[in-house]
Amino acid sequence: MSLLNVNIDHVATIRQARLTDEPDPVWAAVQCELAGANGITVHLRQDRRHICDRDVILLKETVCCKLNLEMCMTESIVKIAEKIQPDQITLVPENRAELTTEGGLDCVKYKKRLAEVVKRMHKKKILVSTFIAPEESQIIASAQTGCDAIELHTGMYANAKSQRAIKKELTKLSAAKDLAFKNKLVVHAGHGLTYRNIAAVAAIEGLGEFNIGHSIIARAVLVGIKEATTQMIKLIDKFGSNESGR
Ligand code: PXP
Repeated sequence: MSLLNVNIDHVATIRQARLTDEPDPVWAAVQCELAGANGITVHLRQDRRHICDRDVILLKETVCCKLNLEMCMTESIVKIAEKIQPDQITLVPENRAELTTEGGLDCVKYKKRLAEVVKRMHKKKILVSTFIAPEESQIIASAQTGCDAIELHTGMYANAKSQRAIKKELTKLSAAKDLAFKNKLVVHAGHGLTYRNIAAVAAIEGLGEFNIGHSIIARAVLVGIKEATTQMIKLIDKFGSNESGR
């Protein structure tokens, strides 16, 4: 198994552009899995702008690797997760006006709700990960509320321009990973990762999963999703350490 979870939201984005029935995210998930993906990630947003309830239900039935559902903690969405029971949920903040998830979840501010959601998910044997900025307070709050994992927000790294800024962000990610390990959390990473910037993040020892969407789907338009997935897995394997935090 690779460490790559392919986020296939934008397969559904293309479908929803015409409110038709193609391409089906289920077809894409099959291709990603055949290419060796560790998991399939989808974000069920409150506005259902891409992935719909029906997609998550069908993916739960058809995905043999890990199904990771990104979601906010709104009650109606939490109830859907309890019902469908993906292998893992990744909790994200959600702002209706955003183009994509912007910041990390504020686990300190929403600690009480987070603890409640974690408890309910664990009852259904669903792993819980929080999508957070690489900050001490967020890591500690995730650990204290019983989360299994965190996903470190790599957006700041992806947006960094100078070598100095890039190095600073990588140091932050690495330190956050060490602190999370000390607190017995599995550590994933994602957001803004591409074929060009994956190498340095893949080289951070011990990261469990990479959630990558836009860059893979963009390449898939030109080379096919199976080939695009294979190319990303090769890069993660080439630059990564073999040992994950799992
Ligand atoms: N991880 C999380 C929590 C996300 O919200 C997203 C975007 O849906 C991703 C990873 C993937 O980001 P990108 O599309 O930039 O690869």
